[in-house]
Amino acid sequence: MKHLLGCEGMSADEAISLLDTAAEFSALAGRKVPKLPTLRGVSVANLFFEDSTRTRLSFESAAKKLSADVITFTGQGSSLSKGESLKDTAQTIEAMGTHIIVVRHSSSGAAWRLAHSGWLRSSVINAGDGTHEHPTQALLDAFTLRARLHGDSALGKDLSGVSVVIVGDIAHSRVARSNVHLLTTLGAHVTLVAPKTLTPSEVDQWPVDYTASFDEALATYPQAVMMLRVQNERMKGSHFPSPREYISHYGLSTQRFRRLPKSTLVMHPGPMNRGVEISSVAADSEQSTILEQVTNGVWVRMAALYAVHGQEGSVNG
Ligand code: CP
Repeated sequence: MKHLLGCEGMSADEAISLLDTAAEFSALAGRKVPKLPTLRGVSVANLFFEDSTRTRLSFESAAKKLSADVITFTGQGSSLSKGESLKDTAQTIEAMGTHIIVVRHSSSGAAWRLAHSGWLRSSVINAGDGTHEHPTQALLDAFTLRARLHGDSALGKDLSGVSVVIVGDIAHSRVARSNVHLLTTLGAHVTLVAPKTLTPSEVDQWPVDYTASFDEALATYPQAVMMLRVQNERMKGSHFPSPREYISHYGLSTQRFRRLPKSTLVMHPGPMNRGVEISSVAADSEQSTILEQVTNGVWVRMAALYAVHGQEGSVNG
């Protein structure tokens, strides 16, 4: 593939191929020198116009593990403050010799624009655009679910029949959108839980169930519960009466967590607001996959870089 811009329209075969490649890369975890020559000579530019800890650092780590050269741009301290545009910033960085541009931007559609406006020759990977998509997050979530549920026999498998409840600020969540597309394409049954005010109007066109009651969704004993952060930075005005009311209805409190079967996985893309959408008891429990998701993000982003660079055959270069 030339670009990786979203999970909408991605086929199950394409998704499984990316997950399988990531699984091959994950074998590096046990090696003394966790590095491959696969992308030697390839230059990756991380363009982060919006803040990030996990995504930016794991793309950097992924590129370095594949022996690519990496440069990273962040909005702060750059010539954006002098009025430089997205196009001029991206073209300036590409002029330094990049092959792959990883972009995060607060505007939905920014990654698509870089990929399809004829401004650049580089491959583009979307690292999160506004409220639109965050495809590598959904891929690492799917990878984590598949690894936990299928273990050593995960290769080639989809998520048929797996039940996942996604809870919280669906309206502003690119993670939720990408997960709805990817998890349902892979055969999972997805239930979205949110107050009406944090539910997108198009939810009835998505292949998911919807309820405003978290407790009703938990009563179905889902195999995974994915908690989302309330994205205050994307909200205009108030979407619920008070944080206390939100927590009582939509938080994975210790009390709610203790009602879950021991086999139910607790997921969160991070960053977490402990004590708001998730209690520390839930976040730090054995059922939590939160740090595994971060680790798996590196393997998935290696697979994404490998795929957009048009590599075929052995992942070992
Ligand atoms: N999950 C996620 O995108 O985290 P960051 O904002 O830290 O990259």
